[in-house]
Amino acid sequence: MNELTFCAPCLFGLEGLVGDELRRLGLENVRVEDRRVFFTGGFAEMARANLSARMAERVMIHLAGFEARSFEELFQGVRAIALEDFIPKDGAFPVKGYSLSSQLHSVPDCQAIVKKAACERLGSKYGLSWLPETGEQYQLRFSIMKDHVDVFLDTSGVSLHKRGYRREANLAPLHETMAAAMVNLARYRGREFFWDPFCGSGTICIEAALIALNRAPGLNRSFAAERWSCVDRSVWQTARTEALDREFHGEYRILGTDIDPAALEIARQNARKAGVGDRIEFRAADAVRERFPAESGLIVCNPPYGERMLEQQSARQLIARFGAHMRGADGWKTYIISSEPEFEHDFGRPAAKKRKLYNGRLQCNVYMYF
Ligand SMILES: C[S@@+](CC[C@H](N)C(=O)[O-])C[C@H]1O[C@@H](n2cnc3c(N)ncnc32)[C@H](O)[C@@H]1O
Repeated sequence: MNELTFCAPCLFGLEGLVGDELRRLGLENVRVEDRRVFFTGGFAEMARANLSARMAERVMIHLAGFEARSFEELFQGVRAIALEDFIPKDGAFPVKGYSLSSQLHSVPDCQAIVKKAACERLGSKYGLSWLPETGEQYQLRFSIMKDHVDVFLDTSGVSLHKRGYRREANLAPLHETMAAAMVNLARYRGREFFWDPFCGSGTICIEAALIALNRAPGLNRSFAAERWSCVDRSVWQTARTEALDREFHGEYRILGTDIDPAALEIARQNARKAGVGDRIEFRAADAVRERFPAESGLIVCNPPYGERMLEQQSARQLIARFGAHMRGADGWKTYIISSEPEFEHDFGRPAAKKRKLYNGRLQCNVYMYF
């Protein structure tokens, strides 16, 4: 297989962090765009990125890029892609996509055209008038932006933020990719005391432990391309062995506290499932009364936010009390993600630095206090 171009989409605001991470993983020609990062390589690099990228949402092969203002141009552009290099006779190839600021704006119509062109291409290559699609899944994705079409083949399957450790609970948990991004922004590498005083289901502490251990976040899950006939199974085995060889084993001090015992039970279960149950202490505490667990360290957290008026008021009061409690804790660097526009006013101090991020559709800032 010749060199491929890959695309790793990510949450808005994380592009630079994802680009740096992919470079650290030894991936080449890393190029950052809005909400996605490109790199080049072969299947070995594809497997490494899937297993080890902490902040990207998926890894996709970039199959083609072309201009299209009509369905005919879209059809011909897709028809020209050598899909048979990847998709076998019985492969299933559903199509998903989106369109922004383009003449081809009807996504269902574009989806149908891409599907039709892919059927024609594969049908003519395999000499079949009807493709059974009974085999493994090869998810095709397209994006159309300002009349430019990109076509991708998704190698990840389930989104990479799903590491396989989290029991879904109704706790407003932070995406694992976003939690990893916050730990990265705080430059935590396992040295300082690490504390999340609003830990909920434990996502930030678990991502911090995985980072401290340099453990690949995807070791406990599978990926769509593991089941593809065009990718040798040894590629995945090698990537897993390499990832295990890169792990560190040290002593880490990671603490998660929360006022809700039920959330803490879920956090403990999640941490055990992630293989870091013995690396994190979880205990009940009120964040605005708890004594600081050390002279200095890092606090990384996402305190409650309110969607309804009353909840919003009590969330803001809690931030004010937390801000007052934090005064005098000079040895602690604090990183707080919040969607509250008046956060700095409520916390009682302007942040030393801010970073705008999108947690899904919700615009947030990470407020940094050093
Ligand atoms: C937005 S959630 C945190 C979600 C968490 N990052 C996760 O991934 O699951 C906020 C958490 O703050 C907790 N909380 C609310 N008031 C608290 C207080 N006074 N002290 C400590 N925790 C509190 C809630 O129980 C909830 O789990």
